[in-house]
Amino acid sequence: DWTPDSFVDETVEALKAQLGNDKVVLGLSGGVDSSVAAILLHKAIGKNLYCIFVNNGLLRKNEYSSVLEQYEGMGLNVKGVDASARFLDALKDVSDPELKRKAIGNAFIEVFDDEAHLIEDVKWLAQGTIYPDVIESVSATGGPSATIKSHHNVGGLPDYMKLKIVEPLRALFKDEVRRVGASMGMDKDILGRHPFPGPGLAIRILGDITPEKVRILQEVDAVFIDNLKSWNLYDKVWQAGAMLLPVNSVGVMGDERTYEKCVALRAVESTDGMTADWVNLPYEFLQKTSNEIINKVKGVNRVVYDISSKPPATIEWE
Ligand code: XMP
Repeated sequence: DWTPDSFVDETVEALKAQLGNDKVVLGLSGGVDSSVAAILLHKAIGKNLYCIFVNNGLLRKNEYSSVLEQYEGMGLNVKGVDASARFLDALKDVSDPELKRKAIGNAFIEVFDDEAHLIEDVKWLAQGTIYPDVIESVSATGGPSATIKSHHNVGGLPDYMKLKIVEPLRALFKDEVRRVGASMGMDKDILGRHPFPGPGLAIRILGDITPEKVRILQEVDAVFIDNLKSWNLYDKVWQAGAMLLPVNSVGVMGDERTYEKCVALRAVESTDGMTADWVNLPYEFLQKTSNEIINKVKGVNRVVYDISSKPPATIEWE
């Protein structure tokens, strides 16, 4: 019988036997999967697990420092690498969604590769790959659906690194990963976190990316997410976020005409992200959130709510 406790016991024993005294490197994303994988490995090999948490400059507001602190609090051997400038540089003047993903994927590999090379005699690369990722990457070799957007969770690093791969969650579904995390006493703040794409806010800023656009979207997103939490709606939504549109629209403030950015809010219900329905958020919530965004975030004068389901409208706008 599968239980989270027996999974933890058996996996920790198996990892000990497999890894012995070897060093292992793992990239933390802040998400559920890599975090649970890290805690399992930490239980098995302790300080021989070297975690790397990269700031790509496209995370949510304050996420880099707060998540890094959380990881340190869990006792993980974790190194934070702030590579924001490098990523923003790689994205300069890039507008095409797939080119953005490529630029980010390449920058990530470079940064991670540099860091991994600093760990003397590292033998293994650990990944938080779960069963649906395995299926998706298989279909990516042939299936038409996988070429709609290239996701960068699976695939890993260039093989010149010669690291062996260890993936302790490979047989699990998302809900099982959460149960495993809970049985190891992980914070429900991490376990209940909405999915967040690897390319981060880059694919929620339509068109080219500038530091100013990132700042605006971080502020907008923070108001939206904080309000979802304070209205007890966060856990009822599968994923939520804001999109910065490449559109200015006319507004009026006092007796001044404004010509500023428009943002779209998106909140969806889903089980696996393959299909999704927009969430019927209360009008009062939308009203209050929209007012707060427009009052607080300089440069935004209009908020719209995305009422499109997937298919055909994907969750991310890019
Ligand atoms: P879409 O937009 O395809 O998103 O409906 C489905 C789920 O996948 C996430 N997503 C990504 N995750 N790299 C990722 O790691 C990506 O390039 C990427 N694109 C979309 C999206 O946030 C949603 O959860």
